[in-house]
Amino acid sequence: MSNFVTIFAGVLIALALIFFAWWMIVGAEGVYLGRRTVIFLYDLYANRYDNVKNYLPEFEHALIAYPLMEAIAPYKAPLVLDVATGTGRIPIALLNHKDFQGRVIGVDLSRRMLHQAALKLDGYLDRASLIWWSAEDLPFADNTFDVVTCLESLEFMTNPKAVLEEMARVLRPGGIVLTTRRINTRFMPGKVWTEDEMRKLLDSFDIDPLADEVWQHDYNKVWGRKRGESSYTGTRPLGEVLRCPACPQSLMVEDEDGYWYCEDCRARARIGDDGVLELYKLET
Ligand SMILES: C[S@@+](CC[C@H](N)C(=O)[O-])C[C@H]1O[C@@H](n2cnc3c(N)ncnc32)[C@H](O)[C@@H]1O
Repeated sequence: MSNFVTIFAGVLIALALIFFAWWMIVGAEGVYLGRRTVIFLYDLYANRYDNVKNYLPEFEHALIAYPLMEAIAPYKAPLVLDVATGTGRIPIALLNHKDFQGRVIGVDLSRRMLHQAALKLDGYLDRASLIWWSAEDLPFADNTFDVVTCLESLEFMTNPKAVLEEMARVLRPGGIVLTTRRINTRFMPGKVWTEDEMRKLLDSFDIDPLADEVWQHDYNKVWGRKRGESSYTGTRPLGEVLRCPACPQSLMVEDEDGYWYCEDCRARARIGDDGVLELYKLET
């Protein structure tokens, strides 16, 4: 009998450990194991991501690009930052909108997700830029962007509040933020917020919450506007807004050898063959 109890307890513990490991890696996408694990998993998964998500262009237009354009109307040429752009969902949706005349900068820490984005944005890279860099310390000055977006990603950040704060920092007063709030979710302590918690969080970063809209099974869309007013930044070349991560007061400049460099400290970053700016491999 006691052997049976021991074996039964052993099986239960083994199953619990297997479930815990599954939840850590698959359920929570590695977020409690640190940023490196999250990015490792996205790198691994990058070339299957779009097939699994299977976003339909009509829905992307109707539910993302169209309402974004409405939110900034009648202006048509905003400077947009997409944080954790992944395979370029927001850039693609906006650039396919007939009225969009702006520029989109997509930032992500998974080089392979960005490679997928670059393949899709081939031919658009005069109006879109992809930067290999982290969401936690965006390489832009305060109050730069007309619109800042971040879809389906905050809960996979090791410090989602810090990312939201950083998004608010680079958004100009009067600018629009569009992000998502995970709902119906698996257990993810510290990573998901109620509608009320999200409102308070946005408010604490000077963002007036505008709407928390039902969107998909797992996500609501969350809209906000940064308090205050300022004039549109508008379509600008990357060289007018990209700061050097090593000395953030300085702008970076593109040279003819496929590098961006800082005029002050001479740190430089290469442009990959696919057009992605590899700021993460900054040579100082
Ligand atoms: C679920 S995907 C969402 C991608 C895209 N926004 C979309 O809606 O399809 C999450 C993305 O967050 C990125 N990510 C996770 N942590 C990050 C971080 N700390 N900095 C930048 N990107 C990050 C991942 O590489 C991945 O591309």
